[in-house]
Amino acid sequence: MQTLGSKMLSCSTPLFYLCCLLLVSFLLLLEEAHAARHGGISLRSQHTALLQWKATLASPPLQMSSWQENTSPCNWTGIMCAAVRHGRRMPWVVTNISLPDAGIHGQLGELNFSALPFLTYIDLQNNTLHGALPPSINSL
Ligand SMILES: *[C@@H]1O[C@H](CO)[C@@H](O)[C@H](O)[C@H]1NC(C)=O
Ligand SMILES: *[C@@H]1O[C@H](CO)[C@@H](O)[C@H](O)[C@H]1NC(C)=O
Ligand SMILES: *[C@@H]1O[C@H](CO)[C@@H](O)[C@H](O)[C@H]1NC(C)=O
Ligand SMILES: *[C@@H]1O[C@H](CO)[C@@H](O)[C@H](O)[C@H]1NC(C)=O
Repeated sequence: MQTLGSKMLSCSTPLFYLCCLLLVSFLLLLEEAHAARHGGISLRSQHTALLQWKATLASPPLQMSSWQENTSPCNWTGIMCAAVRHGRRMPWVVTNISLPDAGIHGQLGELNFSALPFLTYIDLQNNTLHGALPPSINSL
């Protein structure tokens, strides 16, 4: 009884708590580092990839006039976003591109799919897209 009591006491020493605190801090740091390595999760790089694709189109259609540098892609015509769980954060990510019948002339190969890892739905039916599918589409 005496031994058990002293063992329990040792678990509540300040040193024990300090160790727990250090362990938790370390785990949180690891998580941050992991998130940082997966920089593609930032809405910024998804924004950039979409705008870079728009810039390669012969004459971007009217539907894409909302695709601007100073606005969030989640507010653009034909783009849908969702908040996904990523560590302790819930960043917004682009999940859908839906611009059927939009009169887009260009190449899908110019779209950097590596920067859009959460894309699950693309509808670009009845547009004039030519060229090969980019290898980065495998990352979807
Ligand atoms: C989207 O647009 C709405 C209204 O036009 C605006 O209130 C909101 O802040 C915008 N969201 C982002 C993330 O830009
Ligand atoms: C993406 O499009 C599909 C098909 O229209 C739809 O079911 C899904 O809800 C859309 N996703 C978002 C985040 O709006
Ligand atoms: C294809 O899109 C054009 C507009 O770009 C539209 O006029 C036409 O009706 C569409 N065709 C089909 C089969 O939906
Ligand atoms: C494509 O996107 C990824 C992730 O953001 C980036 O690392 C890469 O440099 C981009 N490639 C090009 C050609 O822009």
